[in-house]
Amino acid sequence: MRRIEFHNRVEEMEEITRLLDTEPTLITFIYGPINSGKTELINNLIKNLPKSQKVFYINLRGRFISNYDEFIKFLFDVEHVERYERIKEFLKPVVNVLPESYSGIPIPKDVFLKLFKEKEVEDAFVYIETVLRAFYKNGYPPVLVIDELQVIGDLKVDDLLIYKLFNFFIRLTKELHLAHVFTISSDSLFIEEVHSEAMLEGRCRYLLVDDFDRETTAAFLEKYGFTADEKAVAWEYCGGKPICLVELVNTEKNRKGKAEEMLKIRKGQIEEIVYSLEARDKEMFDAAMRLLSEFIGKEKVRYKYISDEIKFLVGKNIIFADSVDKELKPQSRLNLLAIREVMKNA
Ligand SMILES: Nc1ncnc2c1ncn2[C@@H]1O[C@H](COP(=O)(O)OP(=O)(O)OP(=O)(O)O)[C@@H](O)[C@H]1O
Ligand SMILES: [Mg+2]
Repeated sequence: MRRIEFHNRVEEMEEITRLLDTEPTLITFIYGPINSGKTELINNLIKNLPKSQKVFYINLRGRFISNYDEFIKFLFDVEHVERYERIKEFLKPVVNVLPESYSGIPIPKDVFLKLFKEKEVEDAFVYIETVLRAFYKNGYPPVLVIDELQVIGDLKVDDLLIYKLFNFFIRLTKELHLAHVFTISSDSLFIEEVHSEAMLEGRCRYLLVDDFDRETTAAFLEKYGFTADEKAVAWEYCGGKPICLVELVNTEKNRKGKAEEMLKIRKGQIEEIVYSLEARDKEMFDAAMRLLSEFIGKEKVRYKYISDEIKFLVGKNIIFADSVDKELKPQSRLNLLAIREVMKNA
């Protein structure tokens, strides 16, 4: 079996390492188009952190990875048993969810909601804060990473849960300097909401993890013995999208054929998405097509606000909205080519 080793991300790693070297003050939002390698980056980073720096990595997409043995052991050591008994009760369902989520079934929203039920949510935060304090060792603040944060974006626990969470994160960073908080999301609509959220103004920073640039892509393909022609094909069809490049690496024969097939499939999917929209909502379809037609001659388009057609195309993972730079671009090079193909026949 061919193993693809972690490639590059030198700049992003340096940036994060620099942040970890300073006292926590801001929440860091890691964002970027889908499949750009955000999760891979953070996992690699976690692997390389010093042992004394405790990391809690929670992936809401389906894996709930954290060291529960240590959590529970810590529980037995605390003085205020009563309160922690209650918190332990709260944690029970989480523990129950563990084996299931390990096999890849995502945590359903209602389960998550149950965990963060009214009133208990504060208990949960007290609990987490206590755990973080316990792991604040030798000047190494623990690191809390929440991947796929948008999963709980619209959950209500009398108020939106996400606000309580943000408040909690602000407390952990700006006020207590107790933990580094990273959140990851590729849902650009969610990031856009976060970005315009007054409560977070001046309390967070954004870190874009985008597809590889050309040079990084070439170096990656070099490792797997791509010829100059194959490299050109890969860049033409996949751009620097890691997952797409990995697919070509794993295709040993006729890589061009594979790339063309991927494009054909994506073109078909986009056609399906836009033309079924035409049948439902002609006005929105026209607006979406107008927007897509801008990508015939350009790779990026500026925007002022998230209109309905942007929301639609972003929601379908055709377009990525970078709310920091206020730019729209296809989710990948393959999407760009597919859009152009679709527009050719429009
Ligand atoms: N730096 C890298 N080196 C090698 N392979 C990578 C790298 N980054 C990503 N990949 C490959 O691309 C795949 C997708 O990456 P990953 O899941 O990290 O993307 P993501 O941005 O977290 O996606 P999503 O938007 O779905 O959360 C990985 O499974 C891996 O195969
Ligand atoms: Mg991810």
